[in-house]
Amino acid sequence: MKGDLVRQSSDGTLTSPKRTFRPRHYLMCEPTFFDVRYSINPWMDPTRPTSTQRGISQWKALHDLLVSLGHTVDLVEPVAGLPDMVYAANAATVVDGRALVARFRHLERADESPAYLNWLQAHGWEPLQATHVNEGEGDFLCAGDVILAGTGFRSEPKSHDEAQEFFGKPVLGLTLTDERFYHLDTALAVLDEGEIMYNPRAFSPQSRGLLAERFPDAILADEADAGVFGLNAVSDGLHVILPEQAKRLPDQLRERGFEPIGVDTTELLKGGGSAKCCTLELRPVRSVRRG
Ligand code: ARG
Repeated sequence: MKGDLVRQSSDGTLTSPKRTFRPRHYLMCEPTFFDVRYSINPWMDPTRPTSTQRGISQWKALHDLLVSLGHTVDLVEPVAGLPDMVYAANAATVVDGRALVARFRHLERADESPAYLNWLQAHGWEPLQATHVNEGEGDFLCAGDVILAGTGFRSEPKSHDEAQEFFGKPVLGLTLTDERFYHLDTALAVLDEGEIMYNPRAFSPQSRGLLAERFPDAILADEADAGVFGLNAVSDGLHVILPEQAKRLPDQLRERGFEPIGVDTTELLKGGGSAKCCTLELRPVRSVRRG
């Protein structure tokens, strides 16, 4: 198994901390019915042609990559008429074997909740649908002992309290202010326990302050990388899968001992999502894993 990687930089010093790969369990949904027929975020333009076929091949490449890295990937059956169902991350937050299922802000996505809830139920994850608007791992990211929670566009502040109660873990609320980065996972990625990368410009001044205080060593994404959804990344503690269009982030990640892997998700970006949006992490009971 890969891991514990230390790299030597060009000046000969060993700068990277050790990294540990841990296999994860993900849930994904093939984009069989992928399309952009409505617009609920600034990336979605229904007048621009989309190719379901290209969406499927890009999704499949991501799926196969995760499997080849050693992860378990389960699949939920896609439902006709739910073109956004491929963005599995939004459907729930699963921590310690407990699943809080999304309550979507937009009616267009409402029927995704029962589809995911049924899958989670059938596979023993004890799901409960959230009472307040809550878009799952789109807005709730597990960072070690704390859950980072976004609000401003989709999940409502009350859903943060609900998640804190449900998971029995502290939830740190963060306010998003740039509509291009409407979900937390478009503006921030958890790389490892307590380590993140983010785009400060996507947050309110107060949230920026909270992040700087709590994560002083975080990787900061520049405007160009954030703009190609470079932060919509999936990390297993060693590999960080992110859009291949991100230019600086790969080096920033390598400097810290991560192994960035670029993927092409340009078709799926037409719906406003990339690698992270397509993967929902299923964290088992009494997980000792963090992040
Ligand atoms: N079209 C979807 C929406 O606007 C895209 C969701 C992308 N997912 C994500 N985790 N950011 O809801």
